[in-house]
Parts: sequence; structure tokens; C-alpha cells
Amino acid sequence: MKRSQINDIMRKALAFAEQMNFLLPPFVHWSPQDWQNIGQEYDEIRDNMLGWDITDFGGGDYDKLGLLMITLRNGSFDNESYVKPYAEKLLIVQEEQVTPYHFHWSKMEDIINRGRGNLMIKVYGSTEDEALSQAPVMISKDGCNYEVEAGTIVKVLPGESLAIPARQYHKFWGEKGTGTVLVGEVSKVNDDFVDNRFLEKMGRFPKIEEDEEPLHLLYNEYPAAK
Ligand SMILES: [Fe+2]
Repeated sequence: MKRSQINDIMRKALAFAEQMNFLLPPFVHWSPQDWQNIGQEYDEIRDNMLGWDITDFGGGDYDKLGLLMITLRNGSFDNESYVKPYAEKLLIVQEEQVTPYHFHWSKMEDIINRGRGNLMIKVYGSTEDEALSQAPVMISKDGCNYEVEAGTIVKVLPGESLAIPARQYHKFWGEKGTGTVLVGEVSKVNDDFVDNRFLEKMGRFPKIEEDEEPLHLLYNEYPAAK
């Protein structure tokens, strides 16, 4: 992805979050220059990968296959000094913009529609060898528990949410004609380096072509504290 495209996605995301009255913590707004002076008291942001996360899954067509995430809070898989057993993210999902099939070995998450468009989530269980399972899938949706056929698309309307247990494949996108979706994610601790199992091999972090200065740094770009 080009840096100019990432900057543009960030500008639009900030405008959308403001429009939806979802207020963001200070570190989301810091510039690369601000990061030069951020001390060790903010190590939790660096260590637990809080902040901007934008990916095209290596496909080069962000609007078709891509996702914007902002990690707002998170614990740690391996650093015991961080005691939070939970994480929260804000996601922005455009109409027909797909996040491809994946599951998490450890993380269980609630995917929450916080407003505007409809979110479509297609679910499958997984087999022992981590393929799609044809067995029925247990759904837990806002306190309602029921079983559906493998490959069912669950429509999550504004205000609704779907719980995704560990090892359950999920793929999601915004329903055509309903608008961009502001999505929340409340989950167990998140670690994208070790806990994502994509059904098809794909890149989780974009290759970036530096054609202009970054507006905000992505979470894997923070400089070390001085
Ligand atoms: Fe997920």
C-alpha cells in the first residue's frame, strides 16, 4: 500500500468516528513527531500493539480485501506485568470490503455493530486439521444461543453483536447499499503475530511504499522510548 493511501484511510476513519460520536484516546491522534518524545510510561502502547492497524492482507486492493482497526486496549500473551485479560478494538468495514476467513487459536471475540451499515459474518467451524468443517455452528448473538448450518451468513444489524469462539472460522463484510459499518470488538487478549489462522495464506501486514510522510504511525512503526 502507498503511504498516501494509508493517510487518506486514516483521515476518513477519524472523520467517520467523529460523525458516529465515537471518541478516541489521545495516542490515536499522535503524530510521528509526537512519538519522538513519548517516554517509557507509554510502553503499554508499544508492547501491547495499541493504535492504528491497516491492512490489505497483501492483496493490493484495500477496498475489496482490507480492514482498518484501531486497538484501544489490550493485555499481553507473554509479558506478565500486563494483567489485562481483555482487548478492545474499533474497526471500520466498508460495503463489500471483505476480511477473509480466519480463526484465532486463543482469542474469543464479540464483533459488535456500533452503527450505520449492516455487518455480514459468514461462519464455519474448523476441523482438527484446521480446514472448514461442515458441522453445524453454534451461534451466540446478544444472549440468544442457537445452531445454524455451516457457512451461514449472520446479518448483524446496528446495535447487535455476534460472539466468535476460538477456532471458529469467520469472514465478514459490510452489506451492499447499507453504508460503512462502525464495528467494535471486545475480546480476550489479542496478538496478531501469533494468533491468526487464515484459511488461505495471506499477508497480515501491508508492504508500504513511502510516497509521503505518515500522518500517524501504524502500531508496528513506533520508535523505542528514549
Ligand atoms: Fe477475528
